[in-house]
Amino acid sequence: MCGIVGAIAQRNVVPILIEGLRRLEYRGYDSAGVAVIQDGEIRRRRKQGKVAELAAAIEADPIEGRIGIAHTRWATHGVPSERNAHPHVCRNTVALVHNGIIENHETLREEQIAAGYEFTSETDTEVVVHAVYDQLQRTGSLLEAVQATVAKLEGAYAIGVISVTEPDVLVACRKGSPLVIGLGIGEYFIASDIAALLPVTRRFIFLEDGDIAELTPEGVRIFDEAGNPVERPVKDSEVQLDAVERGEYRHYMQKEIFEQPRAIAETLEGRFNGLKLIEEAFGNDAPAVFDRVKAVQILACGTSYHAGLVARYWMESLAGIPCNVEVASEYRYRDPVLLPDTLVVTISQSGETADTLAALEEAKRRGALHSLAICNVQESSLVRESDLVLLTRAGPEIGVASTKAFTTQLVALMMLTLALGRRHRLDRVTEKRIASQLFALPARVEDVLELDDRIRALSERFADKQHALFLGRGSHYPIAMEGALKLKEISYIHAEAYPAGELKHGPLALVDADMPVIAVAPNNSLLEKLKSNLQEVKARGGELYVFADETLDVQPDDHTHVLTVTPTENELSPVIFTVPLQLLAYHVAVIRGTDVDKPRNLAKSVTVE
Ligand code: F6R
Repeated sequence: MCGIVGAIAQRNVVPILIEGLRRLEYRGYDSAGVAVIQDGEIRRRRKQGKVAELAAAIEADPIEGRIGIAHTRWATHGVPSERNAHPHVCRNTVALVHNGIIENHETLREEQIAAGYEFTSETDTEVVVHAVYDQLQRTGSLLEAVQATVAKLEGAYAIGVISVTEPDVLVACRKGSPLVIGLGIGEYFIASDIAALLPVTRRFIFLEDGDIAELTPEGVRIFDEAGNPVERPVKDSEVQLDAVERGEYRHYMQKEIFEQPRAIAETLEGRFNGLKLIEEAFGNDAPAVFDRVKAVQILACGTSYHAGLVARYWMESLAGIPCNVEVASEYRYRDPVLLPDTLVVTISQSGETADTLAALEEAKRRGALHSLAICNVQESSLVRESDLVLLTRAGPEIGVASTKAFTTQLVALMMLTLALGRRHRLDRVTEKRIASQLFALPARVEDVLELDDRIRALSERFADKQHALFLGRGSHYPIAMEGALKLKEISYIHAEAYPAGELKHGPLALVDADMPVIAVAPNNSLLEKLKSNLQEVKARGGELYVFADETLDVQPDDHTHVLTVTPTENELSPVIFTVPLQLLAYHVAVIRGTDVDKPRNLAKSVTVE
């Protein structure tokens, strides 16, 4: 999704802006641009394609300035192209970058065309820069012009804007899209993500919805939506610079897959007293809230939704508590019925997913008493909007395809299952057994990572395939879904997941020698049933890839490839079986030569609907 960087300093800010954009590349984008004020004029460079191409264009035809804004664009309105790239400029006076979507842009555009403004792009953003310019003519102040402009905007936005009329002022604002201010010594920055600013500062102010900030060499002033001056807390970030470096790994995704043992261990750390979960890890009020909970409603998107689907099995079979899971973008527009004393649980890596935030708001509107966020970003909107929070401590996840965030979400959801289960069906012996399994999990995941070479070898067989079918049963069905999602998003192979029992109700028609079928086969009560499903595939000449534990007696042959993971007779086996599927998707994508960390058309943080 789009990224914003801006800076005002006593030095040339162009290198800061370019480095910031580079650090936002993981969010996904298709064009990039920079604008500065130089010699009293707006100087701008834009490029379709990568930040490296923009940097090369600036090197060939340099610009510099002590104030500037920059942007990576992920196309929504208008194709990826240089003319649609930000910053957008009005009458060589105002330059502006924007994340989000302006919903009433068509009306504003008509009004502005009638008023004589000339449009040079198909973006929804361009109306904002013209509106700011227009207001600037009336008010003479950039801050006031932005305040008057946003009052007319409908939709979601994070905006950074500069004007040659006030070359020492950068104005920024947000509503619905994230924006952070970085505090340096005598220099100030804005960005859509702290990762962009880590080389220049560790001190941040997280703007609240509706805030407008004015950055000058003297400091930062913030005003709330009503225009009142407000103080927002300054937070010191503990994110390490090297946490966002790729190191020896070929891709961030690969690094993040291999970081899972540590990420899981950190998610557990300090949250148990021996083998007893400390409920206050979810917040001081958690025990009192959990006492009242009679049902759980999980809301999430994509991979986070798959984590929720696994949790439903745990909540119902271990805790004995009813649990619904729904894709957030559906829930927000449905007419859902929320039972009294339902705990609304949102799951999100970024904490900025627009659909998940809106679904939470909808649940609150419908009277949800308590909300809990399982999230990887402490400073995110979702965390701020929720009563209770359990932070996954996966560390920054840069690869667009979510990996370590997913497995740490599963760990967090199992902790929630323990907390709620105590009050319902879960006995102390089972709780202790699962707690020890949780603590053993990092070592188990290490074991599975050892299979990397074998999985790489298997991946060769997928390189020329167009389709793949993933099968699982019970709590491993969502893992099959997650495996299919990983494969399709980074290798562009069309992949579908089915509960194995559904095979004969339709998808079996697709099975032939060109359709690899990947089965997740842990040793559990459904194993015998799954084995019958595998026979159905074999009998149709299908190519089978079985991820099984040692107890499975399926004999490998020319068309049956068995990959054995260490025995997994426990409730956490969905976590274990996730890892080989991540590795499979990763290696297939590498062999097919795709952009693994930044797959086409996708964005890391989906801050628009
Ligand atoms: C897939 C993936 C996405 C996200 C989804 C929700 O690998 O990463 O499906 O899971 O966009 O994002 P978050 O978890 O940030 O709410």
